[in-house]
Amino acid sequence: MNGSGFDDVLERRGTDSLKWDGMEGRFGPVPAGALPMWVADMDFLSPPEVIEAIRKRADHGVFGYVQASQETFRTVSEWLLQVHDWATAPSWIVPCTGVMPAIGAAIRAFSGPGDGVVIQPPVYPPFFRIVKDNDRVVVENPLINEDRYYRMDMDGLRRTLEDPANRILLLCSPHNPVGRVWRKEELDQVGRLCLETGTLLISDEIHADLVFDPERHIPSASISPDLACNIITCISPSKTFNIPGLQIAYSVIPDTDLREGFQASLRATATGTHNVFGLAASDAAYRFGASWRKTMLGYIRENRDRSIAFFREEMPWVGVRPPEGTYLLWLDMSASGLAPEDVTGKLIQKGRVVLDPGYWFGVQGSGWQRMNLACPRILLEEGLKRIRDSF
Ligand SMILES: Cc1ncc(COP(=O)(O)O)c(C=O)c1O
Repeated sequence: MNGSGFDDVLERRGTDSLKWDGMEGRFGPVPAGALPMWVADMDFLSPPEVIEAIRKRADHGVFGYVQASQETFRTVSEWLLQVHDWATAPSWIVPCTGVMPAIGAAIRAFSGPGDGVVIQPPVYPPFFRIVKDNDRVVVENPLINEDRYYRMDMDGLRRTLEDPANRILLLCSPHNPVGRVWRKEELDQVGRLCLETGTLLISDEIHADLVFDPERHIPSASISPDLACNIITCISPSKTFNIPGLQIAYSVIPDTDLREGFQASLRATATGTHNVFGLAASDAAYRFGASWRKTMLGYIRENRDRSIAFFREEMPWVGVRPPEGTYLLWLDMSASGLAPEDVTGKLIQKGRVVLDPGYWFGVQGSGWQRMNLACPRILLEEGLKRIRDSF
């Protein structure tokens, strides 16, 4: 026990957990006792203030429709100011059931069937699906991998955005799975390219609060008001406070026309709302969760550093860089000599450990695996040993 509870191993099996109970659904039969280090949620309790707020709400016993109050929007706005030095007006903030539903609504509002939506793989797999499932075309501007440190291909981006068929850039900032926290200069360049080419920028900043010193997350829309008018920023307390099952997110949209177009699109799918527990949890998290977040980040940082040291010492053939943000480690296992599916097979069947296969994130991820670091240290150590013993 480390005093904050992060060392405590929690039983999550039998709770309809996607990560713990959903392995067979995704990978087929897995050996008994397999350790999941895939889906991006944490094996930690949420902050005590969040749990207490949900309990209090449950005790009320009446679970009618809710409407977020002005106080909620002020609370979100205050968090953005305190944590990210971004001054927003509460009126810019639009509630939604999740970041992916918000992205879908933005795509439908500001592009038509057959239009291109640009993404930068390797990237979070639902980015591909949300574009295709809305009958838009996935246009890839792959990240450039320089000795496992990634940067955006700005020349490629300019060429891609200059094509009038491509209406939207979907940016992942910080970037899942490569762990980059984009610098202000990079974001400024991206924002300007979008503005110059008339491309809408959707900035998915769900991992914004999960950044390690000395890096700082810069909200794309905080750079300048002219850029901000062309940006829909998607945020959520879900990753930070481990409440993704409560389905709550916000979009921050300074431009009135953009905001109204987006809201109309949300209305069309009736997803512009929150549920009663999500709202209570989000309010409590943003109001009282700051110090818990700091402790959590310190714990995950140690997990990150421990894992990097492990791979360097015990599996030097695995390529890895410390992520600047996110609790995800992006592992280059291409030197294993095995086909990518066989790496996954070995990890699961021999090692009894489940990571996300890199090819889910685009062809650029073939041969890689993504590992989730947000777990008690004892599980981390066990997972690392299992990864080693798989080969
Ligand atoms: C970049 C990114 N966007 C969106 C999501 C999911 O957001 P939501 O559950 O709010 O739809 C995730 C979850 O891992 C993510 O990594």
